Amino acid sequence: MFLVLWGTAAAAPAPVDPSPAPSDIPAVFSSSNAISNCPGYEASNIVETDSSLTADLKLAGASCNIYSEDIKDLKLLVEYQTNERLHVKIFDAGENVFQVHEQVLPRPKHERAQSSALDFNFVEKPFSFSVKRKENGEVLFDTSADQLIFETQYVHLRTRLPDHPNLYGLGEHSDPFRLVTQNYQRVLWNAESPNIPTNNNLYGTHPVYFDHRGDKGTHGVFLLNANANNININRTDSAGQYLEYNTIGGVIDLYFLAGKQPIDVSKQYAEVVGLPAMYPYWLFGFQQCKYGYWDVNMVAEVVGNYSTANIPLEVMWTDIDYMDLRQDFTVDPARFPMSKMRELVDTLHKRDQRYVLILDPGIHTAPGYGPYDRGHQKGVFLKASDDSDYLGVQWAGVVAWPDWFAPTTQDWWTDEITRAFNPETGIDLDGLWVDMNEASNFCPNPGSSRVKARAAGAQDVQRGDPVQAKDGPRTGLPNRDWFNPKYHINNHQGDISGRTLWTNITNYDGTRQYDTHNYYGHMMATATQNSMLMRRPGKRPFVMTRSTFAGSGHKVAHWFGDNQSTWEHYLTSIRQMLAFVAVHQMPMVGSDVCGFNMDASENLCARWAMLGAFQPFYRNHAEYSTRPQEFYQWPTTTKAAQKAIDIRYKLMDYIYTALYYQSTTGQPMINPTFYLYPNDANTFDLQDQWFYGDALLITPVVSDFSDTVTFYLPEDTFYDYWTGQKVIGKGENVTISNVTLTDIPVHVRGGTIIPHRKHSANTTTLLRQQDFYFLIAPDADGNAKGRLYLDDGESIEQPNKSEIELTYDNGKFTATGQFGYMPASGESVTVSSVVILGQDKAVGVGRWSSEAKSIEVEGPWKLSGNWGFNL
Ligand code: GLC
Repeated sequence: MFLVLWGTAAAAPAPVDPSPAPSDIPAVFSSSNAISNCPGYEASNIVETDSSLTADLKLAGASCNIYSEDIKDLKLLVEYQTNERLHVKIFDAGENVFQVHEQVLPRPKHERAQSSALDFNFVEKPFSFSVKRKENGEVLFDTSADQLIFETQYVHLRTRLPDHPNLYGLGEHSDPFRLVTQNYQRVLWNAESPNIPTNNNLYGTHPVYFDHRGDKGTHGVFLLNANANNININRTDSAGQYLEYNTIGGVIDLYFLAGKQPIDVSKQYAEVVGLPAMYPYWLFGFQQCKYGYWDVNMVAEVVGNYSTANIPLEVMWTDIDYMDLRQDFTVDPARFPMSKMRELVDTLHKRDQRYVLILDPGIHTAPGYGPYDRGHQKGVFLKASDDSDYLGVQWAGVVAWPDWFAPTTQDWWTDEITRAFNPETGIDLDGLWVDMNEASNFCPNPGSSRVKARAAGAQDVQRGDPVQAKDGPRTGLPNRDWFNPKYHINNHQGDISGRTLWTNITNYDGTRQYDTHNYYGHMMATATQNSMLMRRPGKRPFVMTRSTFAGSGHKVAHWFGDNQSTWEHYLTSIRQMLAFVAVHQMPMVGSDVCGFNMDASENLCARWAMLGAFQPFYRNHAEYSTRPQEFYQWPTTTKAAQKAIDIRYKLMDYIYTALYYQSTTGQPMINPTFYLYPNDANTFDLQDQWFYGDALLITPVVSDFSDTVTFYLPEDTFYDYWTGQKVIGKGENVTISNVTLTDIPVHVRGGTIIPHRKHSANTTTLLRQQDFYFLIAPDADGNAKGRLYLDDGESIEQPNKSEIELTYDNGKFTATGQFGYMPASGESVTVSSVVILGQDKAVGVGRWSSEAKSIEVEGPWKLSGNWGFNL
């Protein structure tokens, strides 16, 4: 039993920066003096309608050319797109400057706003603008903080902010969830990032932040720009508090999302970048991988060991070990012979388990290697200046890189996937994992040893005519410094071509890697998702990618890359999850459970098994030189995993329902505490606790050799999930001790109803055969609400689904809504019992537990039509 201590020091309210300014940030801030001395722009030709405004912006004096050449003629476009969304775009009048491809990020549909929550104001000379929340006059954005600079290779825009703002997002990073606000920089440039260092750019680019101002409201700001960007957040005596974009290309394309609650901003952001994908039910099962399962027997042994240890395993993965010479689409004939692979996949499928393999973007140029030869024939690879395939180095050796813009690439990629992985070859995959797609290139950078281009006869390349003229609109200005623009991006891999594709490379449509680098991985992932759709028609595809861009969540899942088996990274996984699910709209995420690099310890892995069970994507994965860390390797970890998976599986329909609502409305399936308590300043910087769904508060132990956890319990009614005991939150820290290595404190938020399966099972297929029970956790007024979504778990089209609203009101329990779901043979839609927490005495027909203070009422009831009864 846990021990609860009240009233230890309450979390400090928000006025002070939670995390001190990191000391290792280089002196990166732009020379503000030089910028303030620039002339800025002057607005003219202003045309206003009731929902839009356009103007010309002309450089208001002599050129300044701080880092490159000023673009003298700009245009301003302001659109009140919906009542909650304002679009402000500043772009070059000639429209030659690069703009993010519509095929990568389709622009949101919009109608005229009838009554906008936001107000746009501007000053003509020097041009600046501000955005205000109409309701309370709160200024959300104000660019008079500094001069607007719009050059060929440098764009600068600064907004003033209130002191000590609560900002979130701007991923991908491993920094505090609530961003540091002094001397802090977020670099957006996708890069190979071993050990996911803090204060650095990582694998993905999400130029969106949420600004939470308590009861004054929350808003979001999304900059639709893919170029390398140093975003500075700082506070100085002279400039006050500000956030500034410093990008080396592209246009200023801003979406202001009015909120007013944090959850509203999430939903509004999903409208801009696309609602996240819905995934198969089985994906919530537990998954195992390791780099270094060196043959098929070892893979099979791990599957067997999980069975023997009585730990459910849903999905088995194999890393690049399966490949012949590390070549995509091949299997090593000695270590992973086809016949054995077929046996493995067959056996997994017979046992209702799944199999996932990895692919890397670099395609080996070895003579006689079919995928390369066919790709080369079809002209799918990026080209060097002499029209030979542009080369680099990845696991296989010297490789060519698919050009995702070339019109033949998608078909070639699908064809290669289909040739290699299909029911006939016997490797009938359930999902694909795309890695190294930043793209990670083992060639250091253009300044050092250059890999000679393989002489590829240009005449046998069938690329066809470019789909877009090379100097077409929005494809980017010519003649820029492709490698070392004067404004320096603080990429931890060196210059912007460091360990990636050279930024001078031209894509098929004439755009440059300089501009499109940040979505190379996104394009590989979405192309793979398209291929999986073709391979398994009608079924929801599962593709997991390392590199992402804004909107990637619309199609694919993500894991947080190469973390370490440390307590620090155990905690990092929580804040990365919060940012990705609740801000970046990528719900299907998780970190390598027990850590990738370094050896995991029994204690860490036991705690992490429990932590991961309450995060969306749950996969144990490790680097090849580390000691094995499958859950069955240690007795305590085995016990912890058994308990964690047991509870995760019982809750699977609850979290699947939450994913369904995120994928249809944008409402996050994981909630930072402040999303549910937006007016409680003590919640704004919480990053070691979270709500799984919107009902379960998870508060893991945060350090080694500790069995104690202190966490913040907002003023509300809660119940200890494990004992059922009511716990009244007082808006104070609470300490729980005696949390053994196989425990994790969980509290149910009053006012919620949580659907459960009565028993867990070895696979999600068997789980769906278990009956339900509902846990009712009344709020202070005795009421509660919940939802349950049911479908076949896998089909894209779901003509027969159930969307059930559960309410408990004045002792009456009702289930209403749509009841279309038709269970497959053996699947259950029976509710065998209902448990109501917080009951001081026996009432009605239920069985009262004096210890848990709960009443259990036995069913059964069928989830096949509306019902309601008094409990
Ligand atoms: C990269 C991936 C890692 C994988 C390894 C080998 O480091 O991030 O997950 O195991 O490559 O493919």
